[in-house]
Amino acid sequence: MKRSMYAGSVRLEQLGQELTLKGWVSRRRDLGGLIFIDLRDREGVMQLVINPEQVDQQTVEAAEKVRSEYVIEVTGLVAQRDQANDKLPTGQVELQVRNLTILSTSKTTPFEIKDGIEVNDDTRLRYRYLDLRRPEMLANFKLRAKVTHSIRNYLDALDFIDVETPMLTKSTPEGARDYLVPSRVSQGHFYALPQSPQITKQLLMNAGFDRYYQIVKCFRDEDLRGDRQPEFTQVDLETSFLDQEDIQAITEGLLAQVMKETKGIDLSLPLPRITYEDAMNHYGSDKPDTRFDMTLQDLTALVKDTDFKVFAQAPAVKAVVAKGAADLYSRKDIDKLTDFVKQFGAKGLAWLKYTDNTLAGPIAKFLTDISDKLTASLQLGEKDLVFFVADSLEVANNALGALRSRLGKELNLIDTSQFNFLWVVDWPMFEWSEEEGRYMSAHHPFTLPTADSQQELEGDLSKVRAVAYDIVLNGYELGGGSLRINQKELQERMFKALGFSTEAAREQFGFLLEAMDYGFPPHGGLALGLDRLVMLLAGKENIREVIAFPKNNKASDPMTEAPSLVAKQQLEELALEIDTHD
Ligand code: AMO
Ligand code: AMP
Repeated sequence: MKRSMYAGSVRLEQLGQELTLKGWVSRRRDLGGLIFIDLRDREGVMQLVINPEQVDQQTVEAAEKVRSEYVIEVTGLVAQRDQANDKLPTGQVELQVRNLTILSTSKTTPFEIKDGIEVNDDTRLRYRYLDLRRPEMLANFKLRAKVTHSIRNYLDALDFIDVETPMLTKSTPEGARDYLVPSRVSQGHFYALPQSPQITKQLLMNAGFDRYYQIVKCFRDEDLRGDRQPEFTQVDLETSFLDQEDIQAITEGLLAQVMKETKGIDLSLPLPRITYEDAMNHYGSDKPDTRFDMTLQDLTALVKDTDFKVFAQAPAVKAVVAKGAADLYSRKDIDKLTDFVKQFGAKGLAWLKYTDNTLAGPIAKFLTDISDKLTASLQLGEKDLVFFVADSLEVANNALGALRSRLGKELNLIDTSQFNFLWVVDWPMFEWSEEEGRYMSAHHPFTLPTADSQQELEGDLSKVRAVAYDIVLNGYELGGGSLRINQKELQERMFKALGFSTEAAREQFGFLLEAMDYGFPPHGGLALGLDRLVMLLAGKENIREVIAFPKNNKASDPMTEAPSLVAKQQLEELALEIDTHD
């Protein structure tokens, strides 16, 4: 029999109709005379009733055999329920079954198929198809599809051309390691999976496509976190002849349409903008969560002459005030916070509590001279708790920025119904990498330096500014973009500043430099992290929740057990050998 409709969509409208429904048994109850089954499909759950006296023997036997997660087909009449269930959209009706057939049986599932379960992540991933049966998971993917649909409509309407770029390609550095694919035909040679389509989309501008977009998989071999997967999706776009404001306006329109169509929220445009420097100084982060205040206060000048050497001698002293939190943190709790800020390079975490109009705490005695000024400057109120970090400005900002985020969560300062978008603009071109002991691109080497700072490419790299802009949502880096270099000479200077020899630059990026000999228009663009956007719209804290088959935090898939060993013959064809010795 053909299915009449989704079980989850049946309403009073169908009263009296004979329907054939197919789906999964979510629950079966045998109440003496009657058997009740909750039938589930992608649209919801509907109650079936089987009265053994009114159906044939085959159906009675099948109904008795049925267990959770069996797949069944039923035919029956839609009737009004004696007692409606207001919690279910189908709760007014039930199907009085005439005929039931088992289409597929099921073992007892390793976890119950319902929302809000507490199951270990690897078990969820190992049986991902069962995990995805849970309504809250399906809802995430319906939302994701709605978001991509809305994005495509928006960009199509603005005449962006959707172009596919290659997956077997050459490394484009975005700051992570590449996933490499060995070539059989050219032994010893490797493709790289794209970390982003950065260079190829730029070449499409050279080709005159003018406006490109792609919803595209990107691959980065980096340490995993809740908002990072080795394989993720970007909404990638590039345009010619536009300036930074034009590209920001296009992005804002896109975000406004998505927010309206998926959440019914009207974004107020233009979105707020903050400079990178202000973001670091006020929030201690290049992706500030502006849903709560608690900004970083600069006390360097105020504490310069105190007896507390740690403060007096530090290049920067900064503080955050946790309003009314004095009694909420014990010494032990503060010790934990001290260990926490040390991860960000701080040498310690000094603190004061303000109670009965006085400052108390281990360092209070050193600060008596300035206690009034401190109280006024920090606008302290009863039971406020102040944390200080004295260090280089960078360490103080980073450590207190991390502390601010942690305290914001612990003290429930965040209104989770808000969506705070924010542009971070005026970026430095380079960031110093302690790990590598050199300057690296803050974005990527194709970013245009501002006209008035280009001379520093041969001077002080910390002074080179980039025409780059990041879009931040609720403390997450949602996307980033920039205007690009379109002049060969400037691109060569950029590679040189990054430490590439002329030969190395030619070898890796010769094709891009060559394209710059052939009428490369001014261009720029941006890429949004689609997984992060959908995660935040869905109110989740891990992008795994919105990726159908993600990897675990060891970058492997517990279901397929990828990555896995391969046959010796495959390695031989690729002229590869595995060195199992250290
Ligand atoms: P960027 O490296 O900033 O820029 O990446 C753009 C956005 O992609 C998302 N993202 C990730 N999401 C999940 N897992 C990851 N491992 C991951 N890495 C990045 C983030 C990020 O903001 N080619 C440039 C864009 C451009 O200049 O046009 C680029 O890739 O949300
Ligand atoms: P000490 O004098 O080293 O015992 O430190 C006194 C208090 O200041 C302790 O609470 C330390 O955690 C804190 N402290 C030490 N160094 C720093 C620093 N660089 N910034 C902020 N607090 C610090």
